[in-house]
Amino acid sequence: MASAFAFLLIFFNLLFMESCKAVDRNRLSFNESIGRGESLVSLNQRFELGFFSPASTNNKSYLGIWYKNYPDIVAWVANRESPLTDSAGTLTIYRDGNLVLLNSSNSIIWSSNISLSSAQLQSSSVVHLLDSGNLVLTQNRSSVPEGSYVWQSFDYPGDTLLPGMKIGWDWTTGKARKLTSWVDTTDPSPGNFVYKMDLLGLPQVVLREGSEKKFRTGVWNGIRLSGLYRSRPTNPLFNYKFTNSTKEINFFYEFTANQTISRLVLNQSGILQRYAIRGGTSEWSLIYETPSDTCDPYAKCGPNGLCKATEDLSCECFHGFIPKSESEWNILDRTNGCIRRKPLNCLKGEGDGFLWINNVKLPDLLAQKFWFNGSMSLKECEQMCFGNCSCTAYANSDITGKGSGCLIWYGDLIDIKTLSNTEGSEQGMYIRLAASELKNGKKRLLVIISVVSAASVMLFVGLLAWCRLRTLKKRRERNNEDIDLPLYDLSTLASATNHFSDTSIIATGGFGPVYKGKLPSGQEIAVKRLSKDSGQGTEEFKNEIILISKLQHRNLVRILGWCLEGGEKLLVYEYMPNESLDKLIFDWKRTTLKWDNRFEIAIGIAKGLVYLHQDSRLRIIHRDLKASNVLLDSELRPKISDFGIARIFGGDQNEAKTKIVIGTYGYMSPEYIIDGKFSAKSDVYSYGVLLLEIVSGLKNTKYRMTEQYHSLLSHAWLLWNEGRTLEIVDRCLEDSYIKSEVQRCIQISLLCVQRSPKDRPTMSSVVSMLENKDVAIPEPKKPGFFIEQVQAETVTELTSGNQLTATTIDAR
Ligand SMILES: *[C@@H]1O[C@H](CO)[C@@H](O)[C@H](O)[C@H]1NC(C)=O
Ligand SMILES: *[C@@H]1O[C@H](CO)[C@@H](O)[C@H](O)[C@H]1NC(C)=O
Ligand SMILES: *[C@@H]1O[C@H](CO)[C@@H](O)[C@H](O)[C@H]1NC(C)=O
Ligand SMILES: *[C@@H]1O[C@H](CO)[C@@H](O)[C@H](O)[C@H]1NC(C)=O
Ligand SMILES: *[C@@H]1O[C@H](CO)[C@@H](O)[C@H](O)[C@H]1NC(C)=O
Ligand SMILES: *[C@@H]1O[C@H](CO)[C@@H](O)[C@H](O)[C@H]1NC(C)=O
Ligand SMILES: *[C@@H]1O[C@H](CO)[C@@H](O)[C@H](O)[C@H]1NC(C)=O
Ligand SMILES: *[C@@H]1O[C@H](CO)[C@@H](O)[C@H](O)[C@H]1NC(C)=O
Ligand SMILES: *[C@@H]1O[C@H](CO)[C@@H](O)[C@H](O)[C@H]1NC(C)=O
Ligand SMILES: *[C@@H]1O[C@H](CO)[C@@H](O)[C@H](O)[C@H]1NC(C)=O
Repeated sequence: MASAFAFLLIFFNLLFMESCKAVDRNRLSFNESIGRGESLVSLNQRFELGFFSPASTNNKSYLGIWYKNYPDIVAWVANRESPLTDSAGTLTIYRDGNLVLLNSSNSIIWSSNISLSSAQLQSSSVVHLLDSGNLVLTQNRSSVPEGSYVWQSFDYPGDTLLPGMKIGWDWTTGKARKLTSWVDTTDPSPGNFVYKMDLLGLPQVVLREGSEKKFRTGVWNGIRLSGLYRSRPTNPLFNYKFTNSTKEINFFYEFTANQTISRLVLNQSGILQRYAIRGGTSEWSLIYETPSDTCDPYAKCGPNGLCKATEDLSCECFHGFIPKSESEWNILDRTNGCIRRKPLNCLKGEGDGFLWINNVKLPDLLAQKFWFNGSMSLKECEQMCFGNCSCTAYANSDITGKGSGCLIWYGDLIDIKTLSNTEGSEQGMYIRLAASELKNGKKRLLVIISVVSAASVMLFVGLLAWCRLRTLKKRRERNNEDIDLPLYDLSTLASATNHFSDTSIIATGGFGPVYKGKLPSGQEIAVKRLSKDSGQGTEEFKNEIILISKLQHRNLVRILGWCLEGGEKLLVYEYMPNESLDKLIFDWKRTTLKWDNRFEIAIGIAKGLVYLHQDSRLRIIHRDLKASNVLLDSELRPKISDFGIARIFGGDQNEAKTKIVIGTYGYMSPEYIIDGKFSAKSDVYSYGVLLLEIVSGLKNTKYRMTEQYHSLLSHAWLLWNEGRTLEIVDRCLEDSYIKSEVQRCIQISLLCVQRSPKDRPTMSSVVSMLENKDVAIPEPKKPGFFIEQVQAETVTELTSGNQLTATTIDAR
């Protein structure tokens, strides 16, 4: 009876369809329907569902979801394969409870097509268009809690991956969640290109044209897809996530910036394109494309060829391999790849050996050409490879922690590319070679074939390769530790710094002096020499090297190399002509520092912290941010330095606790000093202090304005409450500053130093508040350490028990 009534209504709708006015609603219940000219609009007007005709040349129309503000951008199409061919069409809930699309003769053109059990439930079906762009079918009239959907459009992506959509497999339906291109801009039916998760051995996502592979992300290695980091934008808007359960296996993006609207589209020529509207703008911009670099196209360098995107001639043969056809290779046709120079001996130990190749996207896994065991150790894996003459390479299948599992390749190795240092130095593999090749390895490392066979180029590349191998070798000697940086000889550094003469000292840190030096090449360097009895032990030393070598950002100081020899621990950095920020802002020299410079410096430091906290592959808490740890280059660009006590946070960890509180008084947050708790928000606190120092030219700890209020923070807070904020501004600036900007900076710094970490903003919102005048800044609450007396800059140690023993090691 109810369904008959529903059909009457549909009929009624059809009759009056053209005259219907668009209704702004976001849901459709059992006895309701929408027709042409009508639409559903999500609650906050983000997405709209309705009918559209992409081509004017035919009368085909489709039911689709588009951005309400960008109606040309269709994110999802229901009936891709079965267009409506006349001007009519109705979307309604059918008597079986499914969402259906009917043509003018009431035939079902498209259906959500799930089986629902009882009639009672069927009539309770409701369809909602959510603000995420997800069209969901639920059986709950009152609310649409996530997970209660009996059907959702997000399970059936078209050519567009919206945030929240996944790529993978749904085990309950046995269906792949994949992207399929449109045929062309006027035809949404499935085109030739498909981006889909392969599950042979280990999961990876592969882009195919028909059955031909065009690009692959590399297999999942426990942390990420082994070759995908290249396709990340420099300032990532999202995190890549992987889920694996009995119900589904998926990759998806999780957004870190909520104001950003973004989509990934597989275009009609098979290019994956990420577009986004960044906060504050209204234009879509292309963020990145995949395949993009010269090494992305599948099997670019043929079997056993290694692709290097950083070099113009991107193909190389692995060590021990030579081009299969030299003549073809020389005319830049590398598709035939490389073959072994010397056959494998296939004898255990003596005959063959393995060469470690670092920083690579692992070879493709082809049917019958690989073997995988998730619980084997690397040693067992090596034995397994030795045990079979066709085995050509092996690697850990999971690189989390110390690495585990075993992946073995038989025969040719396909589609390998090198990743840059920042992309994941932990990912590598062992290639099997005849032992005689390994002995030669040191001198004749890589045969680089080049059409431009200029001797100088060869020499240069050869040198690079040699240096690299040397580093690799040393690296392996030290139990495979993850330090992939040039190792300098002590003698080189000694002569560069005039034998560490006192006149070369440019700074003296808590852990030892920093020297200025000049390498024979003429390059100027800064050498940090850790004093033997300094607090920084071998652990901190390695910590700093490993950390910095993985970080690359224009607001972080770049490490060039290191040296651990004869009890000396030395770090080599790029030299910063303008030295450290404290020398500029707390000194008479600060008269040269205009407001614009200060503001840019403040933003730069904040960006460096955003990178540390969320944009780099690691999540890092610096723990010792202060003016003396910010260096300035020749153009006064700030670079954060000194990672000696920085901590890496993994997984979901947001906070840690330590018994030993090391840091610098005046910059340390209350929760850190009192409880030893630190998090990204403790760096935010330090940043707040630093920002106030930049504005005022005064040191938080050495500050005496009145006897009553001992710290700069307290004073700033007081002035803020009395509406006299600008009184704290550095007199050296005279009146040459923009009042509103300075005022904002002070307000932001007060926000950063609030007592409760929860109240402090994240560094990314600090950046957006600094950069964007239109972003509202909340009212700050009282700072932590309001009326506390602070002594000189000290390094403190909180020993077990709860005693605070403070040792004054005033650094500068
Ligand atoms: C059908 O719609 C009417 C009004 O539009 C509503 O009162 C009624 O509850 C609906 N019936 C069902 C079964 O949803
Ligand atoms: C589209 O439909 C209109 C009327 O409904 C008709 O006049 C026209 O010929 C059709 N065009 C095509 C290409 O079928
Ligand atoms: C509606 O669809 C059915 C089945 O596909 C088809 O036979 C019928 O001709 C269509 N009606 C119109 C008016 O297009
Ligand atoms: C619905 O699903 C069944 C089996 O899952 C399939 O045979 C049928 O063709 C589907 N119908 C539509 C309209 O997609
Ligand atoms: C509908 O959702 C509400 C709130 O989430 C829940 O309390 C209720 O049990 C749900 N009803 C059904 C029929 O699922
Ligand atoms: C996914 O889970 C299944 C079952 O727990 C497991 O066998 C498989 O190895 C997992 N795959 C990955 C890549 O973690
Ligand atoms: C983004 O929005 C969601 C839902 O509104 C919220 O749970 C999440 O915390 C927000 N994330 C950020 C980084 O603001
Ligand atoms: C797809 O993207 C590529 C790269 O931007 C572009 O060259 C090509 O024209 C696009 N294809 C279409 C059909 O838009
Ligand atoms: C995988 O390796 C473990 C540890 O060596 C072994 O116990 C297990 O039998 C292996 N599984 C297979 C399928 O070979
Ligand atoms: C070596 O591995 C290949 C490929 O999996 C296999 O066909 C062959 O039987 C193996 N040989 C031995 C001796 O295990």
